[in-house]
Amino acid sequence: MKLIAFTLLDIDEYLQQENTSRVITLFRRVHQTQRMMIGQVTLLETMSPKEYQEIRKKLGNGSGQESPGFRVLLKMYQPIWNSFKTHYLDKHGLTIEKIYDSEYTHSDAYVVAESLAEFDELFQKFRYEHMQLIHRTIGFGSKSLKGRPVEILEEGMRHKFFPELWEIRSHMTDKWGAEYGVKRDPLGGHH
Ligand code: HEM
Repeated sequence: MKLIAFTLLDIDEYLQQENTSRVITLFRRVHQTQRMMIGQVTLLETMSPKEYQEIRKKLGNGSGQESPGFRVLLKMYQPIWNSFKTHYLDKHGLTIEKIYDSEYTHSDAYVVAESLAEFDELFQKFRYEHMQLIHRTIGFGSKSLKGRPVEILEEGMRHKFFPELWEIRSHMTDKWGAEYGVKRDPLGGHH
């Protein structure tokens, strides 16, 4: 998480300079680190629920919610989005709709947007993996160490860093439906 945070700081600077090659290369580092985080979670699933109790008893009131790395990452996506929006979109009179649909050319702005989407998706995948780890280790309905129900974490799983990047896809799909019609001829029905 520390490496991701430091790399995002560099990415922010390169976004402001519109240095797309650097942005893409550094995002590859971020994505790779996220994949490593996700991959490592399964190792903890080899620990039995009984054995985990030994750890849990010693955690006291400590909780993942206090993770400095995680908290920093939760603060960083907004500045990153602002830099992208200012320098890749607003400055050029572009919008998400234009780069994905009406003026789609697979431009630098589009490629950078997809790197942001990948970051968002992998973050959600970590949250999902971690949730499965909790199910496996302490169970679904149990109370967390702070006394908050585990279900609260599921709200986090619905939280998108960059909602606009996900909304554009639904928007485009709805539009296609309206253009092409939603009904199609039955297969093999007519000769
Ligand atoms: C068997 C292992 C684990 C269990 C049973 C577990 C359980 C939990 C539970 C119950 C919570 C709910 C919040 C709370 O208790 O205050 C939580 C939150 C959290 N855990 Fe874990 N965890 C485990 C391993 C990990 C690992 C390996 C990481 C990081 C590498 C991690 C990172 C976090 C983070 C960042 C949160 C806060 C999430 C949020 O606020 O959205 N946990 N964990």
